[in-house]
Amino acid sequence: MTAPILSPDADAIARAAETLRAGGLVGLPTETVYGLAVDAANGDAVARAYEAKGRPRFNPLIAHVAGRDMAAREGAFSHLADRLAEAFWPGPLTLVLPLASTHSVCDLARAGLGTIALRAPAHAVARTVIDAFGGPIAAPSANPSGRLSPTAAAHVAADLGDKLDIILDGGRCAAGLESTVVDCTGDRPALLRLGAVAIDEIEAVSGALADPEEDTGAPRSPGRLLRHYAPAAALRLNAEAAEPGEAFLGFGNAGDLDLSPGRDLREAAANLFAMLRELDGTADRIAVAPIPTEGLGAAINDRLIRAAERS
Ligand code: TXA
Ligand code: MG
Repeated sequence: MTAPILSPDADAIARAAETLRAGGLVGLPTETVYGLAVDAANGDAVARAYEAKGRPRFNPLIAHVAGRDMAAREGAFSHLADRLAEAFWPGPLTLVLPLASTHSVCDLARAGLGTIALRAPAHAVARTVIDAFGGPIAAPSANPSGRLSPTAAAHVAADLGDKLDIILDGGRCAAGLESTVVDCTGDRPALLRLGAVAIDEIEAVSGALADPEEDTGAPRSPGRLLRHYAPAAALRLNAEAAEPGEAFLGFGNAGDLDLSPGRDLREAAANLFAMLRELDGTADRIAVAPIPTEGLGAAINDRLIRAAERS
C-alpha cells in the first residue's frame, strides 16, 4: 500500500494531525525539503521514522515547532539564540540549544543528547499541521538515509511511499536545501551545517561563527557524514563541459538541465536536488558546472561535494 498524496485542505490537515497523534508517519512539505514527520514525544513513532529512512540511530532529529513559545518549552534560549530566532524564524534556521527541563521531545529523537535542535518552519502547510497537532514534530528529510533529499511530493512518494501513512502535497519547496544548523550551546555560536540561510546573513546577527571541527577536531553534529545527498550516478564537479556518456548539469551555461539560466544562486539551490534526481538514471555520470562559493553557493557546493563522495 502506498501512501495517498493529499492536497492540504482542512480535511487533510486534520487527518495529518490525527495520524501524528496515532503515532503515524506523515510526508510533510516545508520551505526547505519535505520532512518525514512524527510526534516528537512518541518514541515508538520516532523509531518507525528512523526505520523508514534506514537511518543510524545516533543521528538526532530536528524538532519542528510553531514558534518561540513552543521552542522555549524544549530548549533553553540564550540571549544570542533569542536574537537568531527573532531574525530568522519562521524560516530555514535550526538552533541547537541545551535541553530545557520542561521538554517533551523523547530521548530517541535527540539520540540521547543533552541538547535539542529546534526550528520553526515557514511553510504554511507545516505551520498549520504543527498548530493542529499542538506539539513539536520530529521531521528528518523524507528520503532514505544518505540519498537525495525530496523537494516535491512525488519524490517522497517514489522513495518512501510504501512506508508512510499519508503525504501532504505543498508544491515544490522554495529553498530546496535543508536548514542551516547553528549550535548555540557554547560560548561562541558554531556552524554545524551549511544550508538555506547563507552564513553572512547569520553572522550579521550573531557575529563570527566558529567551526566546531576547528576547536575539537571531531564533528559535533552527527549529521556531518561525508557521503550524503547522493544520487546513484557518479558526479564530476567543476566541469566546464560533458565528456562522452555524461549528463551535464549547467549553471547559466545550458546543459541537459540548467540550475539557473540567469546564474541566480537562490534558484539554483531550489532546483539542485530535483535536477540531480532527474538526471540520475539518464546517465551513469553527471558532470556539474562550477558553482560560485559565495552566499548560498557555499551550501550548494557542500551538498555537491557530499553527493560526489563514493564511500
Ligand atoms: O531543512 C531541514 O532541516 C529539514 C526539514 C524537513 O526541516 N530537516 C532535516 O532533518 O534536514 P535531518 O534529520 O535530515 O537533519 C538534521 C540535522 C542533522 O545534521 C543532525 O545531526 C543535526 O540536524 N542535529 C539534530 N539534533 C542535533 C543536536 N542535538 N546536536 C547537533 N546536531 C543536531
Ligand atoms: Mg537529511
